Amino acid sequence: MEKMKRSLSGIKPTGNLTLGNYIGALRNFKNYQDEYENFVFIADLHALTLPIDPAFLRQNTKDIVAFYLASGLDKDKTTIFLQSDVSAHSELNSILINYLYMGELSRMTQFKDKSAKMNHEAVGVGLFAYPVLMTADILLYNADVVPVGEDQTQHVELARDLVHRFNARYNKEVFVMPKAVTPKVGARIMSLSDPTKKMSKSDPKGDIFLKDEPNIIRKKIMSAVTDTGNEIIYDPVNKPGISNLLQIYSALSDITLDEAQSRFHDIHQYGEFKKIIADKVLEEIVPFQERFKEFSNPKIINEVLNQGKERASRVASRTLNKVKKTVGLYVHE
Ligand code: AMP
Ligand code: TRP
Repeated sequence: MEKMKRSLSGIKPTGNLTLGNYIGALRNFKNYQDEYENFVFIADLHALTLPIDPAFLRQNTKDIVAFYLASGLDKDKTTIFLQSDVSAHSELNSILINYLYMGELSRMTQFKDKSAKMNHEAVGVGLFAYPVLMTADILLYNADVVPVGEDQTQHVELARDLVHRFNARYNKEVFVMPKAVTPKVGARIMSLSDPTKKMSKSDPKGDIFLKDEPNIIRKKIMSAVTDTGNEIIYDPVNKPGISNLLQIYSALSDITLDEAQSRFHDIHQYGEFKKIIADKVLEEIVPFQERFKEFSNPKIINEVLNQGKERASRVASRTLNKVKKTVGLYVHE
């Protein structure tokens, strides 16, 4: 029998999840739970790279477990776990950090963006080395595919470079080559207040948060920045606001951008257009929020994490041992 392929992804609990996280990542994870061995985790160690309030971090972590369950992940089909519960992540990180270069890490867009706003002397080592830990996350599970939004593909490319380098150095296939998969539409949802910028957890003005009340979500969409015209066409350069709303609609309807555009052929008022977008978002998010509330139960969350920890640890420690032996660390009984 052919070996089942593996999929792995994670979200870091640094803030309230947005519609961008949902469309670009979260809602796609369940697509891998029937035909792949699916691993989905909460990247809590990654949340420490910038200062964060401990109580806030803990609450976000629990919320993400409930969001995972609300999105349709089934704990018996998908291994849902906490990064800090599986010590192999930190151990493989300590090994791999010796195989990546300062040059390549300093070229990572996410690092450049985040560190640009900081005093150079005070940029954390963890922020710089973030992609090393992410590489460890992916390689520990020998993931074939890594479903992510567009902003993470560069990090997966780095993991691929490391796989080439490492396997070549030891002349054997220690690690499986991973591949980033992004959704056809919606891999980069933009801010509603500035559609030339990505919607991100740290930009409350242009965000739709998954925990926002439905009336707030509607209000935010109705006041999304658009242009002065009245045509509903997909043209990200000249009409970034309208194009972003079309992307959201198209992703949530599972249709192409062309199809989405043709549905709005007869609409020439942005207000009317936005109302349809808001209805679409609420049609998806309201039931999702109801499921989220049901799953936000400490008993359920602990049970999911305990089961996930056990399964993930088993897989991860097998890979870690193989790596230790490969590089010459003495693995003994
Ligand atoms: P993060 O919030 O950085 O932990 O991202 C978690 C996942 O959501 C990653 O796969 C990101 O690529 C994805 N993501 C974050 N923001 C967006 C966005 N605005 N559009 C699409 N995907 C996103
Ligand atoms: N870096 C990812 C983000 O910011 C989160 C993440 C950490 C991740 N480790 C991963 C995603 C491994 C996919 C695979 O969104």
